[in-house]
Amino acid sequence: MANTAIIGAQWGDEGKGKIVDLMTQTADLIVRFQGGNNAGHTLVVNGKKVVLHLIPSGILHAQKICVIGNGVVLDPKVLCEEIDGLTKQGISITPANFKISKKTHIIMPYHSLLDQAREKSKSGKDKIGTTGRGIGPCYEDKMARVGIRAADFANPDLLLAKISKALVEKNALFTALYKEKPLDPRQVLETVLPWGERLLPHLTDVSSDISKCRAAGGNILFEGAQGVHLDIDHGTYPFVTSSNTISANAACGGGCSPQLLEHILIVVKAYTTRVGSGPFPTEQLNADGEYLQKKGAEFGATTGRKRRCGWLDIPILRESVRLTGATGIALTKADVMGGLKTIKICTGYTYQSEQILFPPQEENGLAKVEPVYEELPGWDEDISSCASWDELPLNARAYVERIEELLQTRVEIVSLGPDRNQTITR
Ligand code: GDP
Ligand code: IMO
Ligand code: MG
Repeated sequence: MANTAIIGAQWGDEGKGKIVDLMTQTADLIVRFQGGNNAGHTLVVNGKKVVLHLIPSGILHAQKICVIGNGVVLDPKVLCEEIDGLTKQGISITPANFKISKKTHIIMPYHSLLDQAREKSKSGKDKIGTTGRGIGPCYEDKMARVGIRAADFANPDLLLAKISKALVEKNALFTALYKEKPLDPRQVLETVLPWGERLLPHLTDVSSDISKCRAAGGNILFEGAQGVHLDIDHGTYPFVTSSNTISANAACGGGCSPQLLEHILIVVKAYTTRVGSGPFPTEQLNADGEYLQKKGAEFGATTGRKRRCGWLDIPILRESVRLTGATGIALTKADVMGGLKTIKICTGYTYQSEQILFPPQEENGLAKVEPVYEELPGWDEDISSCASWDELPLNARAYVERIEELLQTRVEIVSLGPDRNQTITR
């Protein structure tokens, strides 16, 4: 197998976790490279469900090594809880099979507080719909060069000095702007240190681990979080997350050359969903949207919010192919489309009286487009137990082939249910 990056092509929740778990079978090192516990990746193996927020989705394969790269923002409390939860489920997490980059930035209690205070202070249409997990404020501190990094937990004096420095500005914001109580640096230190100390045995130099794995002939699997249209630069700004979610960041957030990214597999849900605010041209606020939401069990794995649902949007996917350099597609949740009489695909937009094939590039341009649809006949059969391409109803195959044609990219994997074994590899 080639080194592979798994990237969500829409607005997150495409089923990346399932695909990473599947692809781990032929990988040696699995690298999470961006985002934090705003992510929720659900894996189902033999009916048993595991939800992961920070630990890479390769963790069910005992002999593989999972690592968190420098590009991730890590909440140590959430990670400790996740490790404890997995341990209770009989999944072993040790310093040998789970490692964290010394350079990974740490989400501190004041980051989550700031995230929530800020969102609370915004009025309706300005709310981002953030998960409130402190992701944005932590990346802000990284860029402002006042961030706390994983290796700082080994040096409590340095940690206290850095917390004190960061809190000068934060406390001014908390008290003057958000009318919250100021935080005491020493108390913050005492809160985070026990969690941080638990992480110390897992710390490593991820860049060097990737390099050694390659030298030994091993394969790397890069696990993306969120999706292309939540990317801080290329997504539906400002309704985006605070990191680059596209494939290029796998190199930066893992610590390796972009030349290592040989195979770029984008994960495309057979329809479109979105949690949180922001434009969504093909959203269906009608019976079709409800059908997809209910049948697809579209609830956020992190916040439990109902996901907004709509038809497949080819213009945003065309852009995802362009931005990621996709070499293949994993199409998920095709089973959910069964039972619809007619399936619509948005193939382009009308924008300012013109026909366009890609999303407009100005802020909120996507809120002003009118989707142009083509219609395909649906299928009634339950395809969730089909074991091969040939077993799929003709109309289901035609839907997949039309997506390939429109995106000029091969659908390599068709996922037909949440379980690892409900998958067709072509
Ligand atoms: P991620 O964030 O991209 O990993 O996706 P999530 O795990 O948040 O959301 C995808 C949901 O769909 C999860 O509950 C998965 O178990 C489920 N899922 C994944 N693939 C399929 C599929 O092919 N069919 C169905 N019905 N469910 C799927
Ligand atoms: P996975 O990896 C879906 C959305 C939030 C919000 C916006 C900003 O499971 O696909 P943030 O907390 O990052 O400041 O929120 O981004 N969002 C996601 N939506 N899946 C995710 O991750 C998401 N991570 C963030 O709902 O609209
Ligand atoms: Mg998710």
